[in-house]
Amino acid sequence: MQAQREKRPVVNRPLRIGIAGLGTVGAALIRILETDGKAIASKLGREVVVSAVSARSRSRDRGVDISGFDWFDDPVALAKSPDVDLFVELIGGEDGPAFAAVSAALERGCPVVTANKALLARHGVKLAQIAEKGDAQLSFEAAVAGGIPVIKTLREGLGSASITRVYGIMNGTCNYILTRMGNEGISFDTGLKDAQDLGYAEADPSFDIDGYDAAHKLAILTSLCFETEIATDQVFVEGISRITQADIKVAADLGFKIKLLGIGRRTPDGIEQRVHPTLVRKTSAIAGVDGVLNAVALETNHVQELMLAGPGAGGDASAASVLSDILDIARGARVPPLGVPSSALLPYTRAPMRVHEGGYYIRLNARDVPGALAAIATRMGESNISLESVIQRPDLRAVSPEAEAESTRTVVLITHDTIESAVREALAKIAEDGFIVDEPQLIRIEEF
Ligand code: HSE
Repeated sequence: MQAQREKRPVVNRPLRIGIAGLGTVGAALIRILETDGKAIASKLGREVVVSAVSARSRSRDRGVDISGFDWFDDPVALAKSPDVDLFVELIGGEDGPAFAAVSAALERGCPVVTANKALLARHGVKLAQIAEKGDAQLSFEAAVAGGIPVIKTLREGLGSASITRVYGIMNGTCNYILTRMGNEGISFDTGLKDAQDLGYAEADPSFDIDGYDAAHKLAILTSLCFETEIATDQVFVEGISRITQADIKVAADLGFKIKLLGIGRRTPDGIEQRVHPTLVRKTSAIAGVDGVLNAVALETNHVQELMLAGPGAGGDASAASVLSDILDIARGARVPPLGVPSSALLPYTRAPMRVHEGGYYIRLNARDVPGALAAIATRMGESNISLESVIQRPDLRAVSPEAEAESTRTVVLITHDTIESAVREALAKIAEDGFIVDEPQLIRIEEF
């Protein structure tokens, strides 16, 4: 029998990394490098060692020993240190020290790995230019959907396939809240409080529940999918705070779940970027992605649909993505940060929401008077909107004090595919007619 070949000895110079920011992800990265160090060295043929760190507090207990690493008070000085071969930015924030340190590293030709979605969403194109000029790799797998390797899939995994739509669950906090509202009948407020107690929500939870966290991630994905400049300010954003138990129940009875989706789509009018609560059919794959999980689906011409699902946040999952970028760079991988050279990025052309076409769920608090329903239906018809169903739910209580004070009925309309501007026009006329109280609830339906 042939003798087993000996493992290749580790001969190459170690890769020395400097980590700025020692929060949950930074501490998890140090821990994983400790436990998996030998396996990593054997895989790469070289060691990955932490040489220096920087954080706000040197003495805070993080559950990892940082006493063996050089300490820098200033992350920019760390980024410029000649003893650092690769700079890892885990500080967070779109400007300030994160931007300064990442730029400084790239300018001197030092590769950078970051988990900072806000930084990328705001300055991604500029940083890609600096990286190209400095001939340095910039990678950011952990910035979008934490542990899911979607950036690598987009940058390297799809060959020449052309993407027509990207959609997904890009915020775990919202998915957790909506899942519990659906499964347990709890209110939005209770779901949010539990998400905060479990540490899922951002420091300012409005960033999650108002949809901006998902918008940042979508803007980065849209750029990679459609080879356009990152256009974070051009994302249409609606959060989940107006979703009620009435919406969850009616949607469920009709065979839908409500998810906060980020959707980027090529249309004849430009590229849509939208983050909003969405009715998805219970039978769709995305509807099965529950709890704090994330998922990103890509529709392409060659591979049809691809869906990646997994943990969108959390120290270990995000640190694993940071490490995967580090290993790629250690192997010498070179990929344009945004998939194509920054000079080849197309300007972003926004498809206006008023021309968005799709089905709509519309919940109204209609006054319980003769002719109300007929008037509502007439206004829909005048705006050329065809109704798939009209449902009156006297069992579902009104949700506002105004509606409580009057005798109102919950009425839900489901439309066939129609244009957003037509829906807005019809709802404005219905409000003028005086047959409803409160703002209508409008939730878009997405078919896959
Ligand atoms: N707060 C985010 C979420 C995690 O709930 O998905 C990091 O992006």
